[in-house]
Amino acid sequence: MHTPVVCSADADGLPQARVMVLRKADPTAATLRFHTDARSPKVAELDGKPVAVLAYHPTEQMQLRLAGTGRVLTDGETVDGIWNQSTLFARRCYLAESAPGTPLPGPSSGLPAWIEGQQPTPDQIIPARANFATLWVEVTAIDWLHLANSGHRRALFRACDGWAGEWRAP
Ligand SMILES: Cc1cc2nc3c(=O)[nH]c(=O)nc-3n(C[C@H](O)[C@H](O)[C@H](O)COP(=O)(O)O)c2cc1C
Repeated sequence: MHTPVVCSADADGLPQARVMVLRKADPTAATLRFHTDARSPKVAELDGKPVAVLAYHPTEQMQLRLAGTGRVLTDGETVDGIWNQSTLFARRCYLAESAPGTPLPGPSSGLPAWIEGQQPTPDQIIPARANFATLWVEVTAIDWLHLANSGHRRALFRACDGWAGEWRAP
């Protein structure tokens, strides 16, 4: 469940889904944290908007359909701390010259040629910070599904019920 699918609706109301690395799940605050490029069109689709997160655990045969609200943070002590704790290689992708989705004349990583295949130095990575964004999903409902030959099971948990949970037909 390290790479769930994060779903939004675009400006035309059409569904948009993409895989993202789950960086942190905080059960106390019921939040998930993801990292992305601040220039990505998904930032506007997710910030302050309803978000669905879909994850499947193949060994446990468990699906989680999470509903919540997105919040994008780019500045402040918390985001600075997360940025500084990321590896230089992880931060390198934020050196990309154009926003994600920008048309290119040919296949390319979008990175400047001088950093291709190399780990940036702490000085070289400084300008990339402006392109780094954190996405926080405040989870408000969890639809849990477990598949088993002995009988599938499904339950719905909602923040508004204090996460009490209720069984549902699978
Ligand atoms: C395994 C995997 C992990 C990914 N992790 C992230 C991620 O953490 N953040 C991110 O913005 N995009 C991630 N992507 C890329 C997105 O799926 C997507 O292609 C990209 O963010 C552009 O999406 P957008 O057009 O909706 O902005 C990942 C893709 C894969 C296949």
